[in-house]
Amino acid sequence: MITCGPGLRDPLAAEVEGMGFEVVDGSSGGVVTRGSIFDCMRLNFTLRTAYNVLFLMKEFRCGSDTSLYKQVSNLPWENVIGPSGYLCVLSKVDTWTIDNSMYPNLKVKDAIVDRISGKTGGRPDSGPERHGVVVNLFWKKDKAWIYLNTSGVKLSDRNYRKMPHTAPLRESLAAGLLMASGFDGTQDIVLPMCGSGTLAIEAAMIAQNKPAGLLRTHFGFMALKGYDEQKWKTLRREIVQAAGNGWETGRIIATDRDPKAIEAARQNAKTAGVDGFIEFGVCDFAETEIPPGSGIVLMNPEYGLRLGETGQLEKEYKRMGDFLKQKCAGYTGYIFTGNPGLAKKVGLKASRRMEFFNGNINCRLLKYELYQGTRL
Ligand SMILES: C[S@@+](CC[C@H](N)C(=O)[O-])C[C@H]1O[C@@H](n2cnc3c(N)ncnc32)[C@H](O)[C@@H]1O
Repeated sequence: MITCGPGLRDPLAAEVEGMGFEVVDGSSGGVVTRGSIFDCMRLNFTLRTAYNVLFLMKEFRCGSDTSLYKQVSNLPWENVIGPSGYLCVLSKVDTWTIDNSMYPNLKVKDAIVDRISGKTGGRPDSGPERHGVVVNLFWKKDKAWIYLNTSGVKLSDRNYRKMPHTAPLRESLAAGLLMASGFDGTQDIVLPMCGSGTLAIEAAMIAQNKPAGLLRTHFGFMALKGYDEQKWKTLRREIVQAAGNGWETGRIIATDRDPKAIEAARQNAKTAGVDGFIEFGVCDFAETEIPPGSGIVLMNPEYGLRLGETGQLEKEYKRMGDFLKQKCAGYTGYIFTGNPGLAKKVGLKASRRMEFFNGNINCRLLKYELYQGTRL
């Protein structure tokens, strides 16, 4: 099972299939494929839109916490975690017998630790940190699933965002929006209102074919007993070499009116190793350079829910519509917003509305076909 944020299932399925895996099942929370622990390494290093790559240990009928404890204790945990290891259990429970997911969490942790103690005499530490072995329990009605979480910390934490700015997009969501826009690195892409640069950095990583996990030093699979560091290093090297570098790409132009945002974006892009592929500028969105011909313009304005004032924003959204219509003819325009009322002020007819969630805010990626004509 590979989990993702709401709305990212389709881009995730496309990525998984693009890597040669078959998607055998799926839900709004992710996709299911078949593979080995070794495949998990590759998926963890490469996937842009995933949260966690989970390796199924056992699927079983479970009607009570006693049954949960028993079935989990029957698994060979001594082959997974050593007595001096660290264990974190994460649970998602939707069953009539339990109304507090902390309790099954504790049961799973006890079952694992008791099993290891019985076999080895030592008891691993446990807690909420994800730097050790991470185990996920899903318990729905009378069925339960136990997974090894081979990612540990969510894959959306790429490690390049050292300089945060206001309301940044999660990296996996930014990658999903770019994929939904049809961006593949060959087109010119213009990102006014770029904030701390997440969209621009993800665009550059896609264009340069850089694996999403390039900057990560830790994945959950590294804490598993029997982890083969040499095998990982070889695989990592092979993926990086196969990805190549210095690809011929379209231009990536990223602007914001706030100089502090651009400073943060530049720093983040530098950390990600892609600052040389992005043209940054400080300006009002309407002054952003639009290269001639065709391409993509993607804007992520404030929604007026967490930041900004709706009254002022109404004028800004109207200006965005004017900008797209008057300056971006020939391009495909996108506005990503969580405020449907403000979206109406754009004054252009969206040809598509794709649903995503930014945190718990229900958002839409609105697509606008900006037909070629005389640019003003
Ligand atoms: C929601 S944030 C974008 C966050 C960004 N996607 C990220 O991941 O960091 C909106 C950005 O739009 C910028 N902005 C607002 N009004 C603008 C305008 N008229 N022209 C240019 N930038 C503007 C703000 O400075 C802010 O950085």
